[in-house]
Amino acid sequence: MAASRKRRILLGILGVVVVLGAGLGYLVWDGLFRREAPRFDDIREFMKYGSVGQEVTAGIPFKVWQVLPEVCADKLPAGADPAKGYAAFGFVYEDGKDIPIGITKSRIGFDRISLSCAACHNSHYRARPEDAPTYFLSGTDTSFYGQRYFNFLFACANDARFAPATLLPAMEKHGLGTFESLLFRFLIIPKMKDELLKVEKRLSWWYDLPEAGPGRWIAFNDLKYHFAKQPRDGSIGNPDIPTMFNLQLRENIKTYHWDGFTDSLDKAMQNAAVGAGADEPAIPRDDLNRLRDWWLTQPAPPYPFPVDQTLAAQGKQVWEAAGCAGCHAIGRPTAGRVIPIEEIGTDRHRYDLITPGTVEGYNREAKAMYGWPQAWFIRKTEGYVAVLLDAVWLRAPYLHNGSVPTLADLLKPPAERPAVFYRGYDLYDPVHVGYVSTGPEAEKQFRYDTALPGNGNQGHAYGVDLPAEEKTALIEYLKTL
Ligand code: HEC
Ligand code: HEC
Repeated sequence: MAASRKRRILLGILGVVVVLGAGLGYLVWDGLFRREAPRFDDIREFMKYGSVGQEVTAGIPFKVWQVLPEVCADKLPAGADPAKGYAAFGFVYEDGKDIPIGITKSRIGFDRISLSCAACHNSHYRARPEDAPTYFLSGTDTSFYGQRYFNFLFACANDARFAPATLLPAMEKHGLGTFESLLFRFLIIPKMKDELLKVEKRLSWWYDLPEAGPGRWIAFNDLKYHFAKQPRDGSIGNPDIPTMFNLQLRENIKTYHWDGFTDSLDKAMQNAAVGAGADEPAIPRDDLNRLRDWWLTQPAPPYPFPVDQTLAAQGKQVWEAAGCAGCHAIGRPTAGRVIPIEEIGTDRHRYDLITPGTVEGYNREAKAMYGWPQAWFIRKTEGYVAVLLDAVWLRAPYLHNGSVPTLADLLKPPAERPAVFYRGYDLYDPVHVGYVSTGPEAEKQFRYDTALPGNGNQGHAYGVDLPAEEKTALIEYLKTL
């Protein structure tokens, strides 16, 4: 009798422990692992806020991230308003959203954020200073200070304030449950600090290089050092962001990226997803396919200011006679090819960054890590792609490193192109065709010095000796592309 009573009590206790354990297990699972990624049927919304699966491995806890501009206000760029969140890095918030365009938020236990494709592939311009900006998703971004954004996160992670005692009170203002608070205090905040410091170490090579500035992104150093496991060698690849309009025109040419180192849009997109930190099983194929199909057919936006059609027709003749068409005209069999680096003569740092060893290392590593079925992902080419020039008006500053502010400047002999100008101001200059890059407003943005390594504005000396009126006509024609 006594024995069976004892057993009943023991079972009872065990039952309570199991129920409590299961409850706790559920809470831990719910608080750390439950996955919920928002679904975006509209592909434009997907581009702005959609995930390519990177939060699983490279997500930043949203509730901590949200308070960092306030907690580490002194680490924001000079003059930035902490109440405006991440706007200081060129991010734009749409009404009613707690994340800006270019940030994706998914729940894996807790909300985690990362960059979406629109952080970089999104452009805007204004016709007059008092106008609201007009946006073109998939255009070339000119205002996102990607490197400064990460440097801010790293600086904050290195600071004594990056601790539960300072972060939790700030987070509570936005709502924080009791159990959630415990998870943040003991697990998430310490882990987030560790992870940010690890990423900083992985990217620490960039502290030794000239700053990329807004609208450029050091895309492939990490591919070289982290994925291909090559030693750090001071390489600089500070490329501008390409536009993604009407890509079907390029499907036959098979040159993606500035040096044409991939031959298909699929590969280029997979590289982007992996570069963002996504592991293969988490990459949402359907979403990437939808995005690909949109990029293949999305028309290039027409020039938004008046065009003198008679002058443009004269310009078309110059375009043919000066040889531009042979390298750039849509539909011409010789357009969109890689032009050898010695012949094009533009800054060679981005080209030299990728060596045969990088190609070998990355292709091997990518296959092993992700089990990708393709025979290869990247290749070494001989130079830079003579890109198709649709929507060229929206691609300023020009050349792969964004070193020439306007089309008028590109048609000057290299020695006469601006040696210093400012990137990141979005007021349009329809006379020279590009963004306003001098004057007090532009000078609040990023000073681009062409004398720094990787920033050279030399080469592409085509059309530079044309008579002034032919240059004017040619520029008028370029507006129509
Ligand atoms: C942090 C900035 C950044 C983000 C975020 C980003 N990209 Fe890019 N992307 C670039 C840069 C810079 C290049 C050009 C790199 C080069 O060729 O040197 C590029 C090039 C590309 C290209 C090749 C385009 C061409 O014309 O050859 C594709 C395709 C692409 N990105 C897809 C994506 C996708 C898909 C996403 C979202 C998963 C994404 N990118 C997110 C910066 C970014
Ligand atoms: C021999 C082939 C060739 C000829 C001829 C040529 N280009 Fe180019 N063009 C290129 C290459 C290659 C690039 C990319 C170079 C780089 O980014 O470093 C380029 C880039 C450009 C860009 C910058 C595009 C961007 O997205 O930033 C413009 C604009 C341009 N060319 C206009 C012209 C005009 C106008 C002419 C005629 C006066 C011309 N090109 C003649 C090969 C050529």
